[in-house]
Amino acid sequence: MKTETMKLAVDGGPRAVKALGPYTSKIHTEELMELLDLWEYPAGVKRELGRVVARHAAGIKGPHLFRYYNPRPSKVAAAEQAFARFIGVKHALAVNSCTSALIAALRALGIGMGDEVIVPAYTFFASAAVIGASNAIPIIADVDESLTLDPRDVERKITPRTRAIIAVHMRGMPARMDKLMALSRRHKVPVIEDVAQAAGGSFRGKMLGSIGAIGCFSFDFYKILNSGEGGFLTTNDEWLYTRAQSWHDCAACWRPNRYASERREGELFCGENYRMSELQGAVALAQIRKAGLYLKGYRAAKRRIIAGLKLPAGVTLQRVADVEGDTGTNLILFLPSVEKTKWALSALQAEGVPAGGIYDQKVKDWHIYAYWDHILQQKAVSRDGLPWSGARRGHLPNYTKTMCPRSTEYLSRAIIIGTHWEYSRRDCEAIAAGINKVLASDEELNVER
Ligand SMILES: Cc1ncc(COP(=O)(O)O)c(C=O)c1O
Repeated sequence: MKTETMKLAVDGGPRAVKALGPYTSKIHTEELMELLDLWEYPAGVKRELGRVVARHAAGIKGPHLFRYYNPRPSKVAAAEQAFARFIGVKHALAVNSCTSALIAALRALGIGMGDEVIVPAYTFFASAAVIGASNAIPIIADVDESLTLDPRDVERKITPRTRAIIAVHMRGMPARMDKLMALSRRHKVPVIEDVAQAAGGSFRGKMLGSIGAIGCFSFDFYKILNSGEGGFLTTNDEWLYTRAQSWHDCAACWRPNRYASERREGELFCGENYRMSELQGAVALAQIRKAGLYLKGYRAAKRRIIAGLKLPAGVTLQRVADVEGDTGTNLILFLPSVEKTKWALSALQAEGVPAGGIYDQKVKDWHIYAYWDHILQQKAVSRDGLPWSGARRGHLPNYTKTMCPRSTEYLSRAIIIGTHWEYSRRDCEAIAAGINKVLASDEELNVER
């Protein structure tokens, strides 16, 4: 005979398991101490902080580092809201890199095999690689003296197969968005803005990343705002946001009802995982709050250096598509010949000026199309030969190292001087003095033509 305690809970008996937990997070004090180590606090400070943390650890559950199913307010979600406000768009999606943001953008726009996407000859390789990774065909267009896409070459390269233009705001300076958006409207081809290097920049009063169909930002360590790794995708288009968001989370779909049939054709598909973790989200949130501080610093530094320059007749400052919208992170000078550029570069570096060259035929650089062997040699990851085998019949470009000669011509005469948001007035004056000293020493550069 069954006693009352043997009676099953489904039949009204007592529950065998009264309660479980509460449990702490697997991530706790030890992990926090590792973070302090990353911050490079001296051993004494770490010990002191360790004692304080240990004293209070008992009641602390530990963090929930996954953005979804989070019982506490998500840092990633807060960073998305803050970033959307900063850029002035309806939607911001946090992702784990700008490369991911770009792929999600291409996929959200429905771009795939055989489609053509225009990308500038001067950009970090990721902007072009994502096109191939999406099985589409990269069409490389020249940059002009702004070192961003030359709208005339873009127009020459638009075909009935063109499905997007990736406008890169290179070295913190806006691309010529008026001309590019006019082309976009005329040819009905969306613009994806690659804002990896220009977070906080603008064009004629509009924030970069809010002008084209989609903006893609990098939060990797070397960018204006960073969370070590990370990125954001921005858009005002609800449908593009829904599709990008789906792509970024295995298309597990955070729709109103995630298990329902699709509300509209194109809502369900197989996606990938580009989610940002709460660790990155927390850092990104703090960084976004400090954006104004960094931008003020970079812009003041560039303005001060330029104000101190006495450029000789043979040297010109890079033309910026909108000076007001420049983030100020870089200053670029053009010299009249490759020989003079090489000489000036080593002389500037010897003076301690933080100068770098852009294009040298002997120095590989992932930012210049001539070194994108993956594309020039049409490399494929699998036996299907994609993306190249997917090109519409007879429409694979003839990729060569010399296919964008105007770009390499500009880039081989350019010297780039990076600024720092913490440069003091004295730092800027010293840099300007170093540049003036070198350029004044060469007679040929100083001959009026
Ligand atoms: C112009 C440009 N696009 C894309 C990327 C890729 O960014 P991430 O490293 O966040 O994928 C970078 C990074 O250097 C970049 O400079």
